[in-house]
Amino acid sequence: MGWLDYFRKWASKYDREVEAYDYDPEKLLKPFVPLIRKRKRGLDVGCGTGKSLEALKTVCDEVVGVEPVEKMALQAEAKGFRVFRMKGEELGRLVEDGVPGRFDLVAFFASIDYMNVELVVAGVEKVLEPGPAGHMPKKEAGLVFLTVEPENEEKVVRAFGERGFRVVKRDTRKAYEGQTYVCLLMNKG
Ligand SMILES: C[S@@+](CC[C@H](N)C(=O)[O-])C[C@H]1O[C@@H](n2cnc3c(N)ncnc32)[C@H](O)[C@@H]1O
Repeated sequence: MGWLDYFRKWASKYDREVEAYDYDPEKLLKPFVPLIRKRKRGLDVGCGTGKSLEALKTVCDEVVGVEPVEKMALQAEAKGFRVFRMKGEELGRLVEDGVPGRFDLVAFFASIDYMNVELVVAGVEKVLEPGPAGHMPKKEAGLVFLTVEPENEEKVVRAFGERGFRVVKRDTRKAYEGQTYVCLLMNKG
């Protein structure tokens, strides 16, 4: 069974189960809030039922989700969020799908572990505000926030690093019993 089938099967029970084991994306984001400050537009990749969109909303004026599993996306929409059906590997398509402009925060909460990270980074570059080397002033330049399972950290940092991203802050958090996430904030240094 592929990951998308796995999440299709889990969708109807997802909120109930993760709440039972105390998964709270806001807790993962919290240590980074002083650095992130307030952002204009946040993109939540693999937004699931919308729990992580709720967390992202605390630091962004506007948030949009990307989710390939229909049953997950429908739950996020029922909570009032705008969600595009696509994989994290296809972010470049967002503009064609009617989302103009770029995002100043792109986030992956408990989702990048299921993606082909090289393809993801290529897409992130198309939708993220350029870094300090571009035309944007530094405080408005794009940030990437992600949580990753410890065994995938090296691969993910390398893939972003190859495209010029560097880690600004790193933290490890217990996401729930038995699962620790590495949380990373990155930009183009
Ligand atoms: C563990 S859930 C996390 C959901 C949400 N971000 C949260 O924090 O509650 C992982 C999510 O990633 C999505 N996902 C899996 N593979 C993906 C891919 N290739 N592209 C985008 N999303 C994907 C799943 O459908 C699922 O909704």
